[in-house]
Amino acid sequence: MKTSITFTLNDREVTVDTLPMARLLDVLREDLRVTGTKEGCGEGECGACTVLVDGHPVNSCLVPAIQLQGARVQTVEGLAQDDRLHPIQEAFLKHGGAQCGICTPGFLVAAAELLAREPHPSRAQVREALAGNLCRCTGYQKIVDAVVEALA
Ligand code: FES
Ligand code: FES
Repeated sequence: MKTSITFTLNDREVTVDTLPMARLLDVLREDLRVTGTKEGCGEGECGACTVLVDGHPVNSCLVPAIQLQGARVQTVEGLAQDDRLHPIQEAFLKHGGAQCGICTPGFLVAAAELLAREPHPSRAQVREALAGNLCRCTGYQKIVDAVVEALA
């Protein structure tokens, strides 16, 4: 049976009627039509679907809707403010860190979370923060370069 769930999405309160065990990923993409968050593996392995819930990175393919009641959710759409890109988005552009449309939103959200808690991380810390985000094709050098620059 569907239930009504209210939470904050990118600083805006939203209410959805959905199944309690519906995946956050589907609530975002299908119920709310907020499609920046992408599905890769659907099994919690690739990080493509990373969003922040109450400031913490989670795989939205594993989070049931029932856990969202009253939560604060931030997706890639919430990074830019007032038509200004987030510094991490600027850095990805500059360094070619945005490689494909499937993995990039998850990398951006995970990197933005690192920026919020650690203004000057080491390269190793950047790699650790992004360890849950997989790229199956081009590799991580440009992504790590972009994050290191954005946070320098
Ligand atoms: S789609 Fe969620 S971790 Fe891969
Ligand atoms: S999976 Fe996106 S660039 Fe490799």
